[in-house]
Amino acid sequence: MNLTMVKKVLLDGSPCGKCAQAEDILRKRGLWDKIDDVVIAEEGNPESPGMKLAAKHGIDLAPFFIVRESSGEHRVYTRVFDFIKKELTSSPTPGISKFDASEAAERFKGLNPDQILADAQKAFGQNLALAFSGAEDVVLIDMASKNGQPFQVFSLDTGRLHPETYGYLDTVRDHYKIDIEIFTPDSMLLQNFVSVKGLSSFYQDGHRECCGIRKVEPLKRALEGRLAWATGLRRDQSPATRSDLVHVELDQSHRNADGEPLIKVNPLLDWTGQDVWDYIRINNVPYNPLHDQGYRSIGCQPCTRPSRPGEHERAARWWWENETKRECGLHT
Ligand code: ADX
Ligand code: SF4
Repeated sequence: MNLTMVKKVLLDGSPCGKCAQAEDILRKRGLWDKIDDVVIAEEGNPESPGMKLAAKHGIDLAPFFIVRESSGEHRVYTRVFDFIKKELTSSPTPGISKFDASEAAERFKGLNPDQILADAQKAFGQNLALAFSGAEDVVLIDMASKNGQPFQVFSLDTGRLHPETYGYLDTVRDHYKIDIEIFTPDSMLLQNFVSVKGLSSFYQDGHRECCGIRKVEPLKRALEGRLAWATGLRRDQSPATRSDLVHVELDQSHRNADGEPLIKVNPLLDWTGQDVWDYIRINNVPYNPLHDQGYRSIGCQPCTRPSRPGEHERAARWWWENETKRECGLHT
């Protein structure tokens, strides 16, 4: 079998953005080495090898992928995630069909977070992504980096994080020598939103709209093409909204390429904040320097303040809103 990627080069010589993105996705998922040939389609030059292939297969998009069997049979894909799913991620990754979420939820009740995480990593391999933003998540990264199995990490850059948090992302990247895939808000959605409502509308009409554009929509893209994700959610983070969570759930808000819900794994659910900090200190795990300035739960800069003595950690997030509404929408 031979796998070819056709990439476009624009008239001014620059690479096409979607082609670069697709290559990046393949590299981050450890699949780039499976591509046998890369063929260039030069914009405006029908004689270039990639343009000839596009004409032959009736394709007018870039990138696209051609799979040729030794029998001469071939298949063409214009979506990188379809290509990955159909051609690059068959066995040995067992994937969702062999993962029984309710059985796992029962089994996970008796396991430690590192065992839960390792179990999920074994089941989903590169198709499991760790959602990274803070103290809980870096504990998961530390556990994953010690169990020797491959893992992927992504983070949502809302554009409103503290400078310390941006620095911290790089600290974690360097410390564990990992890639952290960063997802940013859709530029048109964001531009329209801030043009009409300004940069601080959440203080007037609530955080939902801004979080929807800066976090929830990018999360959909971050999870595209995956089978499962892991979070650092803890039950005691929010008695109002998180006390009923389970270790493994079917995430009905996010679907895999077959339209099935993604598996969402919450290994730290039973841990307290103290457990997290004990782990961080014992294992010398890097943490966000804002924690030394009185911050406990850290989100975006305009919506997070340092915690006051005696208050619950979540009280310092969207403090002007009702306690039961303090969820950004990532976990509904
Ligand atoms: S939030 O819903 O209030 O923003 P919280 O900060 O408690 O979430 O984090 C809970 C979990 O959601 C984290 O452990 C992490 O897995 C995920 N998460 C939150 N914010 C982000 C982000 N910016 N990027 C990636 N994952 C995130
Ligand atoms: Fe916007 Fe605040 Fe939500 Fe960040 S936390 S996305 S700034 S409303």
